[in-house]
Amino acid sequence: MKTVLVTGANGLLGQHLINILLKESYTVIGCSKGPCRLPFVSNTNFIYYDCDITDEIAVYNIFEKEQPAIVVHAAAMTQVDDCELQQEKAEAINVKGTATVLLNAEAHSSHFIYISTDFVFDGEKGNYAEDDHLNPISWYGFTKVQAESITELSEISWTIIRTCLVYGNTLSGTRSNIVTWVKQNLEAQQSIKVVTDQVRTPTYVADLAKGIVLIIEKNATGVFHVSGKDVLTPFQMAEAVASYFKLDRNLLQPVDASTFTQPGKRPLKTGFNINKAVTQLGYQPLSFEEGIAKMFEAN
Ligand SMILES: NC(=O)c1ccc[n+]([C@@H]2O[C@H](COP(=O)([O-])OP(=O)(O)OC[C@H]3O[C@@H](n4cnc5c(N)ncnc54)[C@H](OP(=O)(O)O)[C@@H]3O)[C@@H](O)[C@H]2O)c1
Repeated sequence: MKTVLVTGANGLLGQHLINILLKESYTVIGCSKGPCRLPFVSNTNFIYYDCDITDEIAVYNIFEKEQPAIVVHAAAMTQVDDCELQQEKAEAINVKGTATVLLNAEAHSSHFIYISTDFVFDGEKGNYAEDDHLNPISWYGFTKVQAESITELSEISWTIIRTCLVYGNTLSGTRSNIVTWVKQNLEAQQSIKVVTDQVRTPTYVADLAKGIVLIIEKNATGVFHVSGKDVLTPFQMAEAVASYFKLDRNLLQPVDASTFTQPGKRPLKTGFNINKAVTQLGYQPLSFEEGIAKMFEAN
């Protein structure tokens, strides 16, 4: 089986992607900043490198040693407000870091798969298709557009996968997402303010991982939107969580996005048209309710 290098291995997506790749018998090289937080250390098809992608020599050495056929570049500075407040750092990781990984993928003729975001759009239109006009309104979104641009200029085979509001459990460690945030607050009888005027197509993390595997298997290149299929506001998502766990929905306070003053602007209406992924890849995501059920089915 082919060797796949996954950057951002410790992250929400990285953990689930590596899980499914190992189940499909790929050899996986995981690379992330800091010690390994993945529960696969005993798997002989898995090797982990503690590697900061801004360290050019460290990245070069991994490629020289492992010669990956496929690279899924998921490592990024992902917190929108941190990116706004630390713009140089965000650029170093999200743009220059991507360039470093891509240059090495080029040297080894690997298939380069870049994970991007709905935040490349301005949120005026919603239901975005792959060829819609990019117009980021945050520094995070801007760095992701820059990284997409350098990917598109490459002469090796490349794929850009844009995804939207990813939720799911981390396999180890914790990372809050819309489902866990609502559940934990309502269980503690805490009232929370939830936005009614943003729109997203929330994505169950294992669906995204499966979409990436479909792209690897089909050798699909170009840009793909890979997200959930339900078009929902955060308030509707919170209502679905309350209803699923039979929690008190009166604790949900509807508010406009303008209620929050955050350093990084969020696009109002995103969400994806996923027809291309459905027809060309056979991608079939869960509904939001099915995703919530999957998250908690083992508990
Ligand atoms: N989550 C979403 O809702 C969402 C939506 C759209 C697009 N995306 C994109 O999907 C990709 C994966 O996101 P995610 O949800 O898995 O985010 P995540 O949980 O924050 O994972 C990102 C990973 O990258 C690692 N990383 C950060 N800087 C690094 C560096 N300099 N060198 C090496 N590794 C570094 C992080 O390390 P630490 O764990 O140590 O911080 C983390 O493990 C990202 O490219 C993101 O932009 C995510």
